[in-house]
Amino acid sequence: MSDTSPADREREAQARRLVPRSVAMIMDGNGRWAQQRGLPRVAGHRAGAIAVDRVTEAAARLGIESLTLYAFSTENWQRPAHEVETLWKLLVRDLKRRGPKLLKQGIRLTTIGRRDRMPAAAVSEIDRVQRETAGGTKMQLCLALDYGGWWDLTEMAERVRRGERDGTLPPGPLTPESLERLLPSAIVPPVDLLIRTGGEARISNYLPWQLAYAELVFLPVLWPDFDDDGLTTACREFSHRRRRFGRVDEQAEAELRTPEPLVAAIEPAPRRRGLAALLRSKR
Ligand code: FPP
Repeated sequence: MSDTSPADREREAQARRLVPRSVAMIMDGNGRWAQQRGLPRVAGHRAGAIAVDRVTEAAARLGIESLTLYAFSTENWQRPAHEVETLWKLLVRDLKRRGPKLLKQGIRLTTIGRRDRMPAAAVSEIDRVQRETAGGTKMQLCLALDYGGWWDLTEMAERVRRGERDGTLPPGPLTPESLERLLPSAIVPPVDLLIRTGGEARISNYLPWQLAYAELVFLPVLWPDFDDDGLTTACREFSHRRRRFGRVDEQAEAELRTPEPLVAAIEPAPRRRGLAALLRSKR
């Protein structure tokens, strides 16, 4: 039992809740950002790539452990060919530039999504940066590329069928845990906070498994304009949400007032205290 006062413990519990461990983002609004400036849509994606840099660094600084960005959906192939081509070229160019920075910042690059349809140059660049940054422990930056939730869940079901057929799936009832091990996107932990920029309020076939208990924050800002302040605003909103995980208010409240063990059960990973101060200062 700690010897701090209940008030101290409460403050500590509050601080622990300020930073979500796992954040996912839908980076919407690049096209509108460009159109507002009389520029072609692809100029918006270029500006969006710069925002990716900014936000990745801010997230790592805040102590977010997993940041998953929706960079290209299974539905995005339907966009005009020129836009699709530019997006993949931008990704390759961006990874070449970003690789050394990620390494220096201790950020591990991972990806989720289909591998069989993306340009060969993208596959090799992703593989290279993934290999180089594999030891990064500060944060996982996961790019969802040719990713779609329906594909993710269908592929999981296919793996179940294969496992049953070839006997690699242990006998017994399926459980959420045994299924999750077969989910292609299993490297993405349950999402605490989903941020969607661009003013729309939907999840667009993104991470249906991991978003089951996520807090959703929809912001009007267009993605190329999203920055540290936007991220802080979303984290502050997150910190005010009451996460009950199916229980009643009083139970969640009791856990917030209880020192270490129960609080740790809600928020298993240690939070960085520095953020509490940062958020308070921005309030
Ligand atoms: C949605 O905005 C955005 C995308 C489909 C692509 C996201 C890509 C980037 C942020 C840049 C490249 C990313 C990396 C990782 C290098 P939209 O085009 O649908 O915007 P709109 O709704 O205003 O048309």
